[in-house]
Amino acid sequence: MSATILVTTSTETARKVRLAGGDELTVLQPQQLPATAPQLVAMAPQPDAVRAVLLDVRQGGVDEGQAVEVAGRITSVYPTISVLLLTDDAERLALPALRGGVRDLADPELSVEELRLLLRRAVESSASGLTESEGFTGRVVTVASPKGGVGKTTLATNIAAALAEQAPQGTVLVDLDVQFGDVASALDLQPTYTLGDIVVGPGLSDAMTLKSLLTRHGSGLQVVCGVHSPAEADVVTPAAVDTLLRLLKQEFRYVVLDTAPGMSEQTLAAIDHTTDLVLITSLDVPGVRGLKKELEVLDELDLSPSTRHVVVNFADGDAGLTVRDVTTAIGRKVDLALPRSPKVPRSTNQGRPMVSALPKDKVSRAITGFVGRFAHLSSGSRWNGRHRGAVR
Ligand SMILES: Nc1ncnc2c1ncn2[C@@H]1O[C@H](COP(=O)(O)OP(=O)(O)OP(=O)(O)O)[C@@H](O)[C@H]1O
Ligand SMILES: [Mg+2]
Repeated sequence: MSATILVTTSTETARKVRLAGGDELTVLQPQQLPATAPQLVAMAPQPDAVRAVLLDVRQGGVDEGQAVEVAGRITSVYPTISVLLLTDDAERLALPALRGGVRDLADPELSVEELRLLLRRAVESSASGLTESEGFTGRVVTVASPKGGVGKTTLATNIAAALAEQAPQGTVLVDLDVQFGDVASALDLQPTYTLGDIVVGPGLSDAMTLKSLLTRHGSGLQVVCGVHSPAEADVVTPAAVDTLLRLLKQEFRYVVLDTAPGMSEQTLAAIDHTTDLVLITSLDVPGVRGLKKELEVLDELDLSPSTRHVVVNFADGDAGLTVRDVTTAIGRKVDLALPRSPKVPRSTNQGRPMVSALPKDKVSRAITGFVGRFAHLSSGSRWNGRHRGAVR
């Protein structure tokens, strides 16, 4: 059994944390925080069982500076206890907090299910004495295509947004279209640090520093935005991609990658880490031929991520081809067909993914259904309840 200490003034937060399964929860007011770590741990009925301390640092809660100090004191005395900060401004606080010994930052608005996952991960890693970066391997979903303009960025941003609904703190999207990536624009983000900054600076030295350089989307999704200009792209070597993905998949449940058209060296480096390769084509003869060739090349190079998925975009039949023709041409089933819709470019231009802006639209429903394949949460979760049946 594990025990949790929560310091908050919010009864709603206390309720959620209790539901999230702190088997044994001690709730304290900020003014009750004692001066030393042993005194704090001793406030739990079973001090030996304490595995997580949650400090709510929102307005009126624990002072931010004090919270980071407390985290440092706890982790230096009790390496098996994880300290988490509850904050609605993780981006600003992340770097000093993580450096100070805080294990993770979470938004108190998270669902109970998400809080449960966070607590479980904190407890498991502290119980084993491992940091997450030594033990955790997330799912890596790579969206690729031989041709340009077929909907890779649209699909990657929507997959990431849909996964972030389930795991807001556990999903990261990486723009690996190193020269002309436009993920930042598709999500209306103005990054402080880009992929180029991350690979040339200290960003790849450890997971904690890397996490502090990510750009946070309003949904909770973390993003590695593309470089500022194509000239910077040279720094993104396959070795850098390898290190980046090694770190990210240890820290995030879901890592989603958008890529450049074709088999760039960065995409090939990413495929080594990919658990789900999503190959997308438009419904036209050149696109489908390119896809067939790409599938053959992957076989020849023996680059076979555990699962491949084929997506046909702009599947409206106007081109005189059908999805069935694609199936025949490539010799395998099509996993998802997305219709052409004027709402898609509108959502791209507004910087809001379809699944967030128009969740009931048929394109959004098709994508969220498809994404259910990557999200493997327990039955009865929000995911299964809302999106059942949309998987083709
Ligand atoms: N199903 C769809 N219906 C209508 N428009 C779409 C659809 N899917 C994508 N688009 C639009 O097509 C354009 C190209 O899409 P996107 O940028 O996602 O392609 P891409 O494969 O990432 O391109 P590139 O290879 O240049 O990176 C965008 O304006 C997007 O809004
Ligand atoms: Mg793109």
